[in-house]
Amino acid sequence: MNEKGGSAKTTLVASVAAYFALRRGLRVLAIDMDPQGQLGKVLGVDVRRARRTAIELLVDSVLGDDAALDRPSPAGSGSSRAATAELPWAPTRIPHLDIVVANKSLGLAPSLESEDPDPTGRMARRLGAARGLDAFDFVLVDAPPSFGMLTLNVLRAVDEVVIPVPLTFLALDGCAELLRTIESVRTRYRHPALRITMVVPVFHRRTRLAREILESLHQNFPKEIAQTVVGYHVKIDEAQSRGLSIFEYAPKDRGADALAAVARELEARAPVGSPR
Ligand SMILES: Nc1ncnc2c1ncn2[C@@H]1O[C@H](COP(=O)(O)OP(=O)(O)OP(=O)(O)O)[C@@H](O)[C@H]1O
Ligand SMILES: [Mg+2]
Repeated sequence: MNEKGGSAKTTLVASVAAYFALRRGLRVLAIDMDPQGQLGKVLGVDVRRARRTAIELLVDSVLGDDAALDRPSPAGSGSSRAATAELPWAPTRIPHLDIVVANKSLGLAPSLESEDPDPTGRMARRLGAARGLDAFDFVLVDAPPSFGMLTLNVLRAVDEVVIPVPLTFLALDGCAELLRTIESVRTRYRHPALRITMVVPVFHRRTRLAREILESLHQNFPKEIAQTVVGYHVKIDEAQSRGLSIFEYAPKDRGADALAAVARELEARAPVGSPR
């Protein structure tokens, strides 16, 4: 998550997910909560044709009765109830990697069902009631580049946040804003377990400003700051334009090494298979 547009959020989610699935044989679910739908696009999924999308995580009228979700559907009752407990995921080309895609319809979510007394708790409730999530080693969520309903839904649904930070002055500024939001979710929405797992410096260039910002990140996030600093690698952009992960498109590129190192650090920090 990072409020700043173009801060490599989608790139990190797609690359880490691909690394876990391709290189580590882990089962991964990637959820796109950004109406731009770019996570599906960079993983080679046609998001415009997707029948089921992330809006199902937010809209009860699509889901049916919430309370029915965690009960087994009675025999012969048809599949509608059983289907509601299934998250709207679809396989990708990469074995072990499934995705919940998003498209523009997700942008309509804030205006739907406005009488809900707790509209920012929808995704958390939906994931809490979902069947089959236990089968995944990692669930990675890509967030949109602005704060609002969608971002709050994501923060209340997850336990851990990874923040990519471009090494520019304004990005650092946005980071402070995100910290305030995370703190308010911890207290106001009673989610004290929410924590920042990793801060990943991205778009590193060998300039004095980049070095100063990196130092400031180390001071502000002594535990969370990643050892890996991701530079600017054109192959990363190229891979995405072809709907391939960097590990398939240019596995020997230094960009692939950097993103693999980020994935390994994340795996080392996150307890695999721990219950929520
Ligand atoms: N390390 C990198 N080197 C070169 N290009 C990169 C790198 N990381 C990301 N990019 C490219 O930068 C652009 C923005 O990255 P990305 O889409 O991941 O950011 P984002 O934070 O998800 O953006 P948004 O806020 O719009 O969702 C993309 O074209 C991506 O391919
Ligand atoms: Mg994105």
